[in-house]
Amino acid sequence: MPTLKINDIQVNVEPGTLLLDACAQAGHPVPSYCYHSALTPVATCRMCLVEIKGQPKLATSCTTLAADGQEVFTNSKAVADGRAGVMEFLLINHPLDCPICDQAGECKLQDYSYQYGSGDSRMAEPKRRYRYEDLGAKIVIDKNRCIHCTRCVRFTREISGTGELIVANRGSELEVTTYSGRTMDENPLAGNVVDLCPVGALTSRDFRFNKRVWYLKPVPTISRHSPMANPIWADVDQNRLWRFRPRPQGTRLSTQFMLDSERLAWHRYDLDPARRLATPLLDGAPGTLEAIAARLRAAGSVAVVGQGTFGCDAAQRLGDLASSPDLRYGSGDRLEPVQFPTLQLSGDGIFNRRGFSERGFRFGHLEELLARVKSGEVKALVLLHDEEFSGRTETAKLREILEAVPFSLLLEPIPSDLAGTARLPVATYLEESDFVINHEGELRRYQKALEPPKGVKPLAAWARELAAALHEAKV
Ligand code: SF4
Ligand code: FES
Repeated sequence: MPTLKINDIQVNVEPGTLLLDACAQAGHPVPSYCYHSALTPVATCRMCLVEIKGQPKLATSCTTLAADGQEVFTNSKAVADGRAGVMEFLLINHPLDCPICDQAGECKLQDYSYQYGSGDSRMAEPKRRYRYEDLGAKIVIDKNRCIHCTRCVRFTREISGTGELIVANRGSELEVTTYSGRTMDENPLAGNVVDLCPVGALTSRDFRFNKRVWYLKPVPTISRHSPMANPIWADVDQNRLWRFRPRPQGTRLSTQFMLDSERLAWHRYDLDPARRLATPLLDGAPGTLEAIAARLRAAGSVAVVGQGTFGCDAAQRLGDLASSPDLRYGSGDRLEPVQFPTLQLSGDGIFNRRGFSERGFRFGHLEELLARVKSGEVKALVLLHDEEFSGRTETAKLREILEAVPFSLLLEPIPSDLAGTARLPVATYLEESDFVINHEGELRRYQKALEPPKGVKPLAAWARELAAALHEAKV
């Protein structure tokens, strides 16, 4: 294990560790633009310069391995001068449009300019000018802002494999663009280049000019549209959702990037409060939980169907409503096409199948439930459902069960056209805290990001109240 000194602090690192990571380990992180743990290092930006004792020139820490006995300095005068020079060079053509730039507030160029820049520019010549270009419907490029770090270009070659971005021309004419007007529309991972761009050169059509990022509060949550329930940030402001972003777990590749379909799924949860159910419904009219509980109790034997895309707490509470343990059925059959096996570790879109199974829910037995309903053994059904995760066949089966059962209670955060006797206003997963257990057995928590509208409650809360009302009715 190499032992080295960084600013006189001794550190032991794993063999093969980059100096850039060793510096971070020692508590002296160095600034960087072009380096990304998932991409091949190219050392184009020169921002990560450090001084190594005995070497005549500054070295790029993103391409230098930590070695035994090295003495490294990240805060010497030579390093400070080197960084200031690099910043001045990178800013030569960069416009001063931070007030209208989407990246302002999370821009490394802005941050490092304050920390390491000189505050002055000796650039007397006019800056190079380009007009912004659409790279299709998803991405817009503003080449004036580009610092040619090539992260985006390497991403399309090494991760998405689509290779549509290139570096064209040379010298002061250097520009990132696409081959003969190709767009990024065919790239299912296109949105990641916006996250990767350390400046505001690549922007998202979906988010562009919508919000200043310093107003946004990032809340740790999960992607329901990833079979591994990948960790993501939900950026919220004033109880509204504005975007989803990946929330990387260390250098784990599968958590670094997200599909555009997952990224844009935030629109699905940005619900208009005025159009949401605010009170329980019974027989198509406003009702009460007590009245629903009374009907449920009167109906007799209760089965529950829980879709494995909800939290484990919800599953537990829902399971408690079943008249017997064998009346807990699992649902959900969405399959995700696996296009990028290193990022998509499963194709089973029912990401909490394991959490529901551990709580006694049996998947693949809806036919059995239908038979038990038709035979009169099961008289009532509580259905926890999200239409997005049930295919046509399963939905048809659920419809058949609902038509056959004498009493049904629907729990749908986003109501579908399924019909039941009663319905409760249920919160979306962004309006509650819970956890899931993904296909690899990892527990993934999500926090409440939004306050539900008046009358809307988390599923677990409704199920708890329902269980109490049922119990009271029995006493
Ligand atoms: S567009 Fe952004 S990510 Fe791509 S090279 Fe320019 S600065 Fe880097
Ligand atoms: S991060 Fe090392 S040269 Fe760019």
